[in-house]
Amino acid sequence: MHIKWRPDYELGIAKIDIQHMRLVGFINRMADVKNEKKGRDTMETVFTGLVDYCNYHFTIEEVAMKAHGFPGYENHKAQHKLFTQTIKKYKKDYLSGNDQFLTETIEYLHNWLIEHITVEDRKYVSMLKTKLR
Ligand SMILES: [Fe+2]
Repeated sequence: MHIKWRPDYELGIAKIDIQHMRLVGFINRMADVKNEKKGRDTMETVFTGLVDYCNYHFTIEEVAMKAHGFPGYENHKAQHKLFTQTIKKYKKDYLSGNDQFLTETIEYLHNWLIEHITVEDRKYVSMLKTKLR
């Protein structure tokens, strides 16, 4: 199932909202590759793309948090780290032949991302809105 982007997912910081949409795009792409049975190499590329883009996007958030003394920095950073580690673990599992967990994997990524965007990221908006432009 695809994640349909909703206006209430937006933080009102254009740069970050665009990056979040891009992350949603990776997860939707993963669902497409699964449904179309495109094969392991294609799925591996999507997994790798998602991890790389997470690293890029999370770093942007973390650098701003740290630079401006956001009090939730350590906790937020730890959540990012756990998420990227989990994706890498799922990627490894998938590549070693455990395709049966792919549906759950996609569901997990979907739920984590939307929850993170709408609850955790929202906490830095008032403090970092003008800094993240
Ligand atoms: Fe975040």
